[in-house]
Amino acid sequence: MDNFKEEKILLTGGAGFIGSQVAQAYLLAGHKVIIIDDFSRGKRGNLPEGVIVYQVDICNLDKLCEIFIREQPTIVNHHAALVSVRESCQHPELYWQVNLQGTVNVIEAASTVGVKKLIYASSGGAIYGNAKAMPIRESASAEPISPYGKNKLAAEKVLLSRDGNMKTVVLRYANVYGPGQDALNNNGVITIFSNNMLRGNQSFIYGDGRQTRDFIHVRDVVNANLVVLKPRVRGIFNIGTGIGQPLIDVYLWIARLLKVAKMPIFLPGNPYEVKHNVLSVQRAREKLEWQPCVPFDRGLWETLQAIETDIHASV
Ligand SMILES: NC(=O)c1ccc[n+]([C@@H]2O[C@H](COP(=O)([O-])OP(=O)(O)OC[C@H]3O[C@@H](n4cnc5c(N)ncnc54)[C@H](O)[C@@H]3O)[C@@H](O)[C@H]2O)c1
Repeated sequence: MDNFKEEKILLTGGAGFIGSQVAQAYLLAGHKVIIIDDFSRGKRGNLPEGVIVYQVDICNLDKLCEIFIREQPTIVNHHAALVSVRESCQHPELYWQVNLQGTVNVIEAASTVGVKKLIYASSGGAIYGNAKAMPIRESASAEPISPYGKNKLAAEKVLLSRDGNMKTVVLRYANVYGPGQDALNNNGVITIFSNNMLRGNQSFIYGDGRQTRDFIHVRDVVNANLVVLKPRVRGIFNIGTGIGQPLIDVYLWIARLLKVAKMPIFLPGNPYEVKHNVLSVQRAREKLEWQPCVPFDRGLWETLQAIETDIHASV
């Protein structure tokens, strides 16, 4: 058992869906938390009380270095990114700029102040591409097909090449869902379907609906970000459930819970979206003693309740 030590953790993207919940967990665990976010997608309302916040674009290296030198973090957790596969196809340059150059800047700033560990939120959903075998292990070849997958993988490679005194951790998340995801950012199919059904709007499925995804609850993702703080931990870890769910089944499940009869409209598939994605989490189970704990039906129910509450609060 590693002894607890209070860390000063600088978290990028801390106003976003996942980052804000990781920030909250770090605070509760007794760490100091400094957030960098440009609020392009994240919301001030997501920020937990007790964090120091800088509104800064990670593409601005000078500003980043200034903050790192002032705050002297011991650990960096990098969640800031643009996160839509679809949008990355429409604006690939922007995605390369933020997701690759921005990450290189965070690594540079971290190494100037001698950070002990840098944790990077990568995408197990996008970097493997159309993998040959399911569930996908970390050792499988990574052949991303979307600009988003390509820039997340390129950033991983830069980070891993800097592993040394600064330990590096790559968490390859599957499809993350749960309370707090923003439907207006067009992220997360569970949030989008639920939001549409609750508002009486039409949902669309790109492709035949038989594509499978591995849905991991945000609370399990937060727990993974806690366990990798342990000093001995470094390396690449898939964070998913090992279970694949066809999109159409997920749609019908939500429709049943919400008692909605409307069917989705099927549109032509996006060639940049993979057909199947299910992650093996054997390595995380063995080396991190982490495992997914939130059952899908309970996670889905919680998510629906949270979206319903948000919709009522906004009218
Ligand atoms: N949501 C998922 O299913 C999923 C899956 C795999 C990996 N990830 C990764 O997890 C991380 C967080 O994703 P999320 O779902 O919470 O997304 P999100 O959009 O809710 O959060 C991203 C945050 O980064 C901030 N940001 C964007 N560009 C920035 C910039 N140039 N400078 C500073 N801040 C900037 C946004 O304002 C936002 O607060 C991302 O790195 C993403 O690639 C997410």
